[in-house]
Amino acid sequence: MRRGPILRPLARSPPHGYNPPQRNNLSLPQASPFYLRPENRMSIRAATWHERFTLAGEERSENLAAFAADVRAGLAATPKRLSCRFIYDKVGSELFERICQLPEYYPTGAEREILTRHADRIVGLMPHGVHLAELGSGSSDKTQVLIAALLRAHPRLLYVPMDISRAALESAAEQLLDRFEGLRIRAYMGEYHDGLAFVQQFVEGPKCLSWLGSSIGNLARPAAAAFLQSAGACLAEHDRMLIGIDLRKDGSVLEQAYDDPGGVTASFNANILGRINREFGGDFDLEAFRYEARYDEHRGVVEMFQISRRAQAVRIEKLDLDVSLAADEEIHTESSYKYSLAEIDVLAADAGLGVVEQWFDQAKQFTLVLLEPHAE
Ligand SMILES: C[S@@+](CC[C@H](N)C(=O)[O-])C[C@H]1O[C@@H](n2cnc3c(N)ncnc32)[C@H](O)[C@@H]1O
Repeated sequence: MRRGPILRPLARSPPHGYNPPQRNNLSLPQASPFYLRPENRMSIRAATWHERFTLAGEERSENLAAFAADVRAGLAATPKRLSCRFIYDKVGSELFERICQLPEYYPTGAEREILTRHADRIVGLMPHGVHLAELGSGSSDKTQVLIAALLRAHPRLLYVPMDISRAALESAAEQLLDRFEGLRIRAYMGEYHDGLAFVQQFVEGPKCLSWLGSSIGNLARPAAAAFLQSAGACLAEHDRMLIGIDLRKDGSVLEQAYDDPGGVTASFNANILGRINREFGGDFDLEAFRYEARYDEHRGVVEMFQISRRAQAVRIEKLDLDVSLAADEEIHTESSYKYSLAEIDVLAADAGLGVVEQWFDQAKQFTLVLLEPHAE
């Protein structure tokens, strides 16, 4: 059974350039723009409230326990597998930002192009005074385009970024608070599902839930529809969900996007092994693995692997775990499912969501889809 969201405050230093109030007042300021149900105020009173920023969520130990369980199960499985969400520690999040700058990795530029051209229209299709909650927000870099448009429509905005990477949340908050005066941030560190529960419990009023960066592609198709359905269950009648989806295309474009010649994506992917070494005292020799990204056109998925160059034994000291790998044995580390327009319609219908409007970049490589809770 899944846990509910954990609402302990996370100790942190305030973002650079941001001065928290000097008083020792941990309750909500009177004029707070946070819409919290009164019955929940007591339970969060202990949080480290600053007027413009809070961070709640999983403790590091909980994140590590989940990672350890994933490593134990995944490296004992046949074929071996590790969950891509654990790639994103500080190193992984920084490497992902470098991927976003690569010319081969078109999804970032395409999604930014759509947001830049259509942000005002997108905001116009949301309820007035909407709060923005974002799954897997990462650096929130592209989201700034949306935030700027939301603040043009309404002078104040509550933004709820949610991510498994605390490093990403903290560095994003620092930049956002510097740039946008009318912004309040209520960050949640943890898994997608717990993020949804957090939104449901603590964000009151009209909202848009965004999920950018084609992160939905990391889920197999039935899991993606099931997750969207749970996301839809968090939405009230006039709420919206904005989701970035990568489209099916030529395999060579996809394989370059996920395996650039400079090897940045390969390093990002290998960070899952590097992180096992750092967190759990593993002795993975990263040079003893090669990286491969393969597109299966029939299934519409790019699958990524770390492949053992030779037969080898790996010791993971803190987990008291010994792992044997044969020569050429693969560890599956990530999948990225691509969608046709028809598949997007099926996805939305399976999730019980209706498509309000959909936008494309000029090269039609990527799409942003605005969804509403109930299909017409
Ligand atoms: C592909 S990146 C996208 C980042 C950003 N939204 C963008 O468009 O550039 C995926 C983000 O989701 C986060 N993430 C991945 N799996 C997650 C999970 N299961 N729960 C919460 N966050 C997750 C990662 O830390 C990362 O920041």
